[in-house]
Amino acid sequence: MRFTLPKWTALALTTAGLLVAAAVGAGFAWSERQQTENIARAMTGGDPTRAPELIRRYGCAGCHTISGIPGGDGKVGGPLDGLRARVYIAGVASNTPDNLIQWMVTPQAFSPRTAMPATGITEGEARDVAAYLFAQ
Ligand code: HEC
Repeated sequence: MRFTLPKWTALALTTAGLLVAAAVGAGFAWSERQQTENIARAMTGGDPTRAPELIRRYGCAGCHTISGIPGGDGKVGGPLDGLRARVYIAGVASNTPDNLIQWMVTPQAFSPRTAMPATGITEGEARDVAAYLFAQ
């Protein structure tokens, strides 16, 4: 006698299989994201979770497009996504966490004629923003 599964069983198994695959995929995406964030924290010593509020307060997003920041679509300066992969900050300083932080605090120290203003952000706050930007 041949054993056949009722149609609904096959459907249920397929659905369960797809759900497991989706969960595993989401898990990988989550852990990769978590790892990128951990590296950014280690590189800068900053806390990226404090950055969105600082980015709003100092007007960064009014001039720059920054992922994950509501209304972060400024076009005065370049987009700040993928900053980690860049070789230079603003074309004048090599892209290290310290240079990124110092650039945010006093851009004129690197580039006297730059259009980016010193916003009043402190070094500690810039560290948190650097952690956020390096995690994007
Ligand atoms: C009034 C507009 C303005 C504001 C506000 C502003 N920036 Fe900028 N920013 C610029 C411009 C213009 C440049 C390009 C500067 C240059 O190349 O000399 C720039 C460059 C940069 C760069 C270098 C980007 C690259 O492609 O190398 C970073 C990083 C940066 N800004 C971060 C910030 C952060 C963080 C804040 C908030 C604390 C901020 N900016 C606020 C206009 C602004």
